[in-house]
Amino acid sequence: MKRIIRSVLVVFLIFVGALSFAQETAAPAPPYLRDLAAKHHLLLGTSIQRGGLNNPGVLRTAPREFDAFTIENELKPASISGGPDSYFFYAPDYMIKWGEEHGMQIRGHTLVWHRSVPNWLLKANLKKDQILAFLHDYITTVVGRYKGRLYAWDVVNEVLDEQGRLRQGKSSFWAKNCGDVYIEDAFRWARAADSKVRLFINDYGVVTVNAKSNGLYALVKRLLARHVPIDGVGFQCHVTEQSPPNFKSVAENIRRFTALGLEVQITELDVRIKDKATPKQLEHQGDIYAGFFRLAVTMRGVTGVTLWGVSDAVSWIPGAFPGFDSALLFDDRFNPKPAYFAVKKVLAESVLKKK
Ligand code: XIL
Repeated sequence: MKRIIRSVLVVFLIFVGALSFAQETAAPAPPYLRDLAAKHHLLLGTSIQRGGLNNPGVLRTAPREFDAFTIENELKPASISGGPDSYFFYAPDYMIKWGEEHGMQIRGHTLVWHRSVPNWLLKANLKKDQILAFLHDYITTVVGRYKGRLYAWDVVNEVLDEQGRLRQGKSSFWAKNCGDVYIEDAFRWARAADSKVRLFINDYGVVTVNAKSNGLYALVKRLLARHVPIDGVGFQCHVTEQSPPNFKSVAENIRRFTALGLEVQITELDVRIKDKATPKQLEHQGDIYAGFFRLAVTMRGVTGVTLWGVSDAVSWIPGAFPGFDSALLFDDRFNPKPAYFAVKKVLAESVLKKK
């Protein structure tokens, strides 16, 4: 009987051993992406969720490959605001401390977003002045709390509609109740709370020259003319493998923003694939990633690229776009994919003078 138990145990242990081996079969060798990116003076980020810091794959891979991260959800107003004077800072406090311990730079995301309005505020029926007074307190409190510890804030997120006009009415709680002034106010209040943190406007669908990015360009010019403290523009870049952006247009678009003296960052890059990814699609995905990174290492004013997630195991894509997956550089076992090697190849190229 004892012998049977022992052999069952041995088989079990071998099985467990094989499983943990299967977790990651091909850890990449140095140099890692962050070291290569640093030579180009390019910040290389990923997004991280609080839950990711319980995931051995994230804990192992993120600080090895990335020198920066964006707090994916835990600094959004709906996550931390429980009432006019009530804040839940436990998760972001933990994440920021973790990032500092791992020598990573951290991006705050985001102060104003129509998709993350605190529940109590939606129901509170406040007037414009009261809402703006809350927003002032909120920004002062949150930006002030992390003063000196974040390299950037996405101050406003997705304030434009698909045509490039400022969101109006129903499509944004802020626009509906406060008009357009909240955008300018948010930047000024953030600057007052932290004089050094870089302040960004962030949006999707604006990476090429198109109607929406024309609207963004016009908005940013207006803000600059009014001396609104804005340092940079963030392009989200959640793209599909099937229809990647035209990189000539991306370059032209980046150029017009950096010509205004602003920095540009790719803030939320992922390249999603429909259905089960074929080897050919994974190669093509690598080419698309390479396209983004080639611009990032050659264009003056592009200061960072952030992937929206460390690996397919923790990506928001399957939840947000049913039928799509495989959007990131590492697979669901944290093995590097063709896209990882494609990015590495671009970053390993010699450092050129940026133009
Ligand atoms: C997403 C997160 O990745 C998800 O975990 C969450 O459920 C919803 O928000 N644009 C943004 C990000 O600016 O904040 C979004 O992040 C993705 C789209």
